[in-house]
Amino acid sequence: MNPYDKLLEEARGRPFAAIVGWPIEHSRSPALHGYWLRKHGINGHYGRLPVEPKRAALEELVAFLRRTSNARGCNLTLPHKIEIMALLDHIDARARHIGAVNTVVKRPDGSLEGRNTDGFGFLAALAEGAPQWKAAAGPVVVLGAGGAARAVVASLVEAGVPELRLVNRTQQSAIGLGVAFTPKDGRRITIERWDERSEVLDGATLLVNTTSLGMKGQPPLEIDLARLPQSAVVNDIVSVPLETPLLAQARARNHCSIDGLGMLLHQGRPGFEAWFGQKVTVSAEQRAEVLAT
Ligand code: ATR
Repeated sequence: MNPYDKLLEEARGRPFAAIVGWPIEHSRSPALHGYWLRKHGINGHYGRLPVEPKRAALEELVAFLRRTSNARGCNLTLPHKIEIMALLDHIDARARHIGAVNTVVKRPDGSLEGRNTDGFGFLAALAEGAPQWKAAAGPVVVLGAGGAARAVVASLVEAGVPELRLVNRTQQSAIGLGVAFTPKDGRRITIERWDERSEVLDGATLLVNTTSLGMKGQPPLEIDLARLPQSAVVNDIVSVPLETPLLAQARARNHCSIDGLGMLLHQGRPGFEAWFGQKVTVSAEQRAEVLAT
């Protein structure tokens, strides 16, 4: 069955949203939104839509969202977060700044607005997992300069970090991010060499991995945490597996460590609230349920 017809059949006339990507079978988003729908007794649906990485396929998605009266919007994941932007009616300021959209909300007038909630999710998971961490307390280190790094760097700068050390295998991409996200108030983003990633941990309050290293099927991230101060937080946004080699090392050294599931759960909150009109929170029960799927 055509995935659009399948989604409409599942929704049975109820308001709905969906996760859109290619591939999409393994996405955890239906589980996390399904939890909130049930918990709050909302008569709605959250499904999944495989959409090929082609302009025509994205145009079909946008046309479907426009003409379907019970469609409230969608989430976007790889590889659509950038290409979708040209097809929407509005892009909010944060999504424009980050340069990517992960959430589409249909406004009351039927127009489609693109937002980015990844940075919000990242900061909310950090606040939940490390409430003692303060942005202003000192330098932070971010590994990676891909799509995920853009949201992380933008949100850390916005949160007020005094210095951000950006480390990426391809230094040119890190320079691009540095140019895009350096604030105009004198705070710095310094570009560090990939082979010095262990040295630049000196004095840092936070280490974030946004690279795909440590992800299932990828090589582990090789880094020596010896120079990282004991009080520093280690955050790996990889969510499969949850305990990456980096987090195992951080736990063994007694660092406060944060896995990638929190960011995934929290980034879903603003979309859910916009589509279904219900404020939601992240809980241990939801986490366990999402992990069980
Ligand atoms: P995402 O959107 O998830 O951030 P991405 O845009 O493909 O994905 O970015 C992947 C990141 O992981 C990049 O920072 C990439 O480094 P390069 O810019 O040098 O490609 C990093 N990465 C992937 N494989 C890597 C490897 N084997 N060693 C070091 N960094 C790696």
